[in-house]
Amino acid sequence: MSVLTVTNLAKAFGGVRAVDGVSFSVEAGERVALIGPNGAGKTTLFNSINGQIRPDAGVVKIRGVETTGLAPNRVWRHGVGRTFQITATFVSMTVRENVQVALASYHRSAIGVGRALRHRFLEEAQTLIQQVGLGDAATRPVSELAYGDLKRLELAVALTNAPKLLLMDEPTAGMAGDGRSDMMDLVDRLVIDAGISVLFTEHDMDVVFGYADRVVVLDRGRIIASGEPDAVRADANVRAVYLGAYDDDDGGAT
Ligand SMILES: Nc1ncnc2c1ncn2[C@@H]1O[C@H](COP(=O)(O)OP(=O)(O)OP(=O)(O)O)[C@@H](O)[C@H]1O
Ligand SMILES: [Mg+2]
Repeated sequence: MSVLTVTNLAKAFGGVRAVDGVSFSVEAGERVALIGPNGAGKTTLFNSINGQIRPDAGVVKIRGVETTGLAPNRVWRHGVGRTFQITATFVSMTVRENVQVALASYHRSAIGVGRALRHRFLEEAQTLIQQVGLGDAATRPVSELAYGDLKRLELAVALTNAPKLLLMDEPTAGMAGDGRSDMMDLVDRLVIDAGISVLFTEHDMDVVFGYADRVVVLDRGRIIASGEPDAVRADANVRAVYLGAYDDDDGGAT
């Protein structure tokens, strides 16, 4: 059974058809890159899958169960993890406390503060923090973290619900070249053994073609190509719409 199935999904903002009849699926353990020019509808599609946006039409299923229109925390309980910016509320808390709060939330344990929180889900939090390479920073406030470490923390938080599907919207945005491959190597290590499927958007084509098992190309809300990375890269239509600039200057097509 597919981990994610999207059928005829649509979402318009005023007259803009941000997502315009999109159908695709993600299989168990697959790493799928969703690419396309700015404004193609990638983030809108992500938001429609994880519940932040209610689509106008179409169906989203997680492991065969329809989740269309459910609130984000309900979708999250179906095993969809998502990296997101650490909110301002939590920057004064330590790295470990942020992960503990997320774990407490998943286990529906009252979110304690101060002393109570200190003992809750301590070992689980520490394990996740070590897995993402932040073991040494566990007790540091999030406000002191470098950007790349924040991204690692986001990943740890996204893993607190033991997801079957991880959605990552531009996981390496703002990172330098080495940081990008470090981040994707880390994702690989964490998802492959755990059998987690990944759907990610990314403008850096080295990351896309280095890490995706399959590539789905979106343009103006519609899928214009889908397949193995090499086939998509060679697709004339994709090159015309999106990849031409990348291959010409050998840089990112942002
Ligand atoms: N909340 C909103 N209100 C109005 N229009 C929106 C809203 N969100 C997105 N749009 C529009 O929908 C279209 C798709 O936007 P979206 O952010 O999904 O694209 P994207 O592929 O994620 O782009 P990028 O690569 O720049 O992140 C764009 O035309 C955008 O202006
Ligand atoms: Mg986007």
